[in-house]
Amino acid sequence: MTGEPEARQTGLFITFEGIDGSGKSTQARLLADHLTAQGHDVVLTREPGGSPGAEEIRALVLQGDPDRWSAQTEILLFTAARRDHLERTIRPALDAGKVVICDRFADSTRMYQGLSRGDLRQMVDDLHSLMIGVEPDLTILIDMDPAHGLKRALSRQTAEERFEDFGVELQAQMRAGFLDLATEFSDRFVVLDGGREIAPVAADVAQTVAARLG
Ligand code: ADP
Ligand code: TYD
Repeated sequence: MTGEPEARQTGLFITFEGIDGSGKSTQARLLADHLTAQGHDVVLTREPGGSPGAEEIRALVLQGDPDRWSAQTEILLFTAARRDHLERTIRPALDAGKVVICDRFADSTRMYQGLSRGDLRQMVDDLHSLMIGVEPDLTILIDMDPAHGLKRALSRQTAEERFEDFGVELQAQMRAGFLDLATEFSDRFVVLDGGREIAPVAADVAQTVAARLG
């Protein structure tokens, strides 16, 4: 693998995006179970993380003092984690024709590092095209009310509260940013209402993916 943009793969690359607590991990897991039961070869993974090296970077970026890194350093760290994840997990699975389901990907960097501390979107995009060069085939945006999402996220009580700590205003900014991204990349984004029970959201996810799988 070089620094060049990647050629088209044979598998299907699906990502989930949305604010903290919107239900991405829950829906990614349910989709993986559903597709596996249908006989598909599925790899369920997440960012930051998804490979041993990227999971080590995850601990660096999500734990400890929230001001530990500048926004620019964070862009480098998240992109380094993504590069390792791509090389070791995503690319081999897609080359083998598998369905890769990823809980967050580059759109999260476009939002959290690209928007939350000044406008660094161009820097995120430049580094992405230099080092990653891959976009998902389908991105499912689970959209929901920021206060509701934050309440769900905080009820989990983990050591990883990097962005949840910034409160409802940041969540609202991220929600609006994700909806703008869905318009910008309308060819691959599908927006679903995450403010419902788990089952109807999962049914919509399954239907959306079935349409892409043909
Ligand atoms: P995310 O990965 O987007 O942060 P999670 O899937 O981890 O979200 O969900 C956050 C919390 O909310 C979890 O405790 C999960 O069980 C719960 N949850 C997820 N989806 C729903 C839903 N549709 N209704 C109610 N609770 C939900
Ligand atoms: P995640 O574990 O998906 O959190 P949650 O389940 O609460 O949605 O992601 C952890 C945090 O990492 C989340 O607050 C968003 C942040 N993040 C970034 O800031 N940039 C990125 O590129 C990614 C992938 C995640």
